[in-house]
Amino acid sequence: MAEENIAVLLDEKRVFKPKEEFVNQTNVKQWMDKHNIKNLDELYKKGENWEWFWEEISKDLVEWYKPYDKVVEWNPPYAKWFVGAQYNIVHDALDKHAKSWRKNKVAFIFEGEPGDVQKWTYNDLYIEVNKLANAMKKLGVKKGDRVGIYMPMIVELPIAMLACAKIGAIHSVVFSGFSANAFRDRVNDSEAKLVITCDAFWRRGKKVYLKEQADVALEETPSVQHVIVCKRTEDAVPWTKGRDLWWNEIIKDMSKECETERLDADDPLFFLYTSGTTGKPKGIIHTHGGYAVGTAYTLKWVFDMKDEDIWWCAADIGWITGHSYIVYAPLILGATSVIYEGAPDWLQPDRWWDIIEKYNVTTLYTSPTSIRLFMRYGEKWPQKHDLSSLRLLGSVGEPINPEAWMWYYKHIGSENCPIMDTWWQTETGHFYISPLPLTPLKPGSATKALPGLSAEVYNEKAEPVQNAGGNLVLTHPWPGMLRGIYKNPERYQETYWSKFKSIYLAGDVTRKDDDGFFWIQGRADDVLNVSGHRIGNSEVESALVSHPMVAEAAVIGKPHELKGESIVSYVVLKEDADPTEELRKALWAHVGTEMGKIARPDEIWFVHDVPKTRSGKIMRRVIRAKALGKDTGDTSTLANPEAVDEIGNAK
Ligand code: WT7
Repeated sequence: MAEENIAVLLDEKRVFKPKEEFVNQTNVKQWMDKHNIKNLDELYKKGENWEWFWEEISKDLVEWYKPYDKVVEWNPPYAKWFVGAQYNIVHDALDKHAKSWRKNKVAFIFEGEPGDVQKWTYNDLYIEVNKLANAMKKLGVKKGDRVGIYMPMIVELPIAMLACAKIGAIHSVVFSGFSANAFRDRVNDSEAKLVITCDAFWRRGKKVYLKEQADVALEETPSVQHVIVCKRTEDAVPWTKGRDLWWNEIIKDMSKECETERLDADDPLFFLYTSGTTGKPKGIIHTHGGYAVGTAYTLKWVFDMKDEDIWWCAADIGWITGHSYIVYAPLILGATSVIYEGAPDWLQPDRWWDIIEKYNVTTLYTSPTSIRLFMRYGEKWPQKHDLSSLRLLGSVGEPINPEAWMWYYKHIGSENCPIMDTWWQTETGHFYISPLPLTPLKPGSATKALPGLSAEVYNEKAEPVQNAGGNLVLTHPWPGMLRGIYKNPERYQETYWSKFKSIYLAGDVTRKDDDGFFWIQGRADDVLNVSGHRIGNSEVESALVSHPMVAEAAVIGKPHELKGESIVSYVVLKEDADPTEELRKALWAHVGTEMGKIARPDEIWFVHDVPKTRSGKIMRRVIRAKALGKDTGDTSTLANPEAVDEIGNAK
């Protein structure tokens, strides 16, 4: 555990209460009235009876083909939810809307970076998904097959995901900002049969040629039989005959109807790779039934989603935030969402505020790192726009510093919009610790576990602790929880369920205050949080070491004003290598090629050795303390204490 984190315990005293008239109109208040629940305390109390609670919640949100026999079956560390139910998430996300009054309601408002706009109704999506699903079936894709999706922020990405889900195939979306090599490794781990990608997309006024990138990966992906290519920019692309197929051509003659595969509620819906403490990302498994209930419930309550809302989750679909809150939850609730293709400050720093004004966005969900970026540009940019359509704001990805919270509250929400600071993870599938729109807010705290969920802070002896830093744990199973790590049950057990028996270890250092509010302080393990994205220290180290000139590398995170954390690396070169500026640049670029631009180190230092234990384990804690000019603590277990001094004087 990073001791320095525990020392920086926030002491925020301000409390913000939402307006009474606002509270009375919320979904959660309606539910409370219906169940005769008088106040928040009573609501949380009700949620403690969690099996009852989830059963009750699921009734309003999903329609099973065949009802379940049991709400939950818990054989630690494995849970099954809505056991025995027949289900497919696409029924709730699309089929039921296409047969209802929502048929012609806009599901997605798409704005491309160059300014092109598309509006897709539920019926439009329904038809396109069915056609693509039929085309995939024709290519031999079957229930349980994996499909690798490498696509940017265009509406065809959710369409591809839904088409997979419709036929019971498992999608594995890889963020389009990841490099070809990162894509290749994920495709190979999941043994995808099919890949779906696009020609190119727009980013900061330039085209990113994604098909070219995908082709580099596809040279070493033996499981892939076909590649479906969607047209975004209409650019020419490299082509492998027999393997590659144009999306628009293969769907041309397909039927507009495609029967949705009736699955077991606990059948896998997708894998999503996330970083851990080893060099290899983990394929987190999520399933249809529980995930549908958990994501829809949290969006409906936390962001008070109503039919007249215009919802904008400004994350990328390539991460869990986009999976849950751009694709699945908003569609299940029949919402209208905004999807924006490009960079937040392109062409001007008011691009987002322009979008909010243009489409009357009512709810904006973003990250502290974006808020800090806009803060740096200054309030003159949002002030150019009428943002009065907004009624709720949200934050996710890392602890939000009270300064950014206040700026967001004042300059974007005009002191009218409660800020929902939602703590959750790829593994939790949906919000876990988060306020409700009627919760009193303290800037910087994600408040409490939502009703039906339960969190605690444990010391090393599994005792709950108050007002002191400790391990954030989740104390009973929840519907959207991960069902495992693909092909790696040992790692699943070891990472999440071994420190405390049958209790989920979240990996965050956290403090609980006198009001029971949680203050998340950051990762407790060797995982970096860069701009709200999780990057494993050892993943970056492996990327560096894969360069022919590098013998060894150690990577740590340093606090960074904008990004939360920056990546700092210490590199030991091979004997015949010269520590030149060119090599430094080459290593920086190399990490970009191996992993993606987001993982390129902000600092690369050349050293002769990195501090290690006698068993050869890199002592990142010591390196970090030294790099930050702090006390390095006990270094007696080090095999090479002299390496510590070099960290302080590294060039
Ligand atoms: C880690 C999960 C869940 C979507 C985004 C990231 C950090 C996330 C918050 C928050 C403080 C947060 C935690 C967590 N985190 N949200 N509101 N306050 N920290 O998903 O890549 O799975 O990362 O992000 O450290 O463990 P992820």
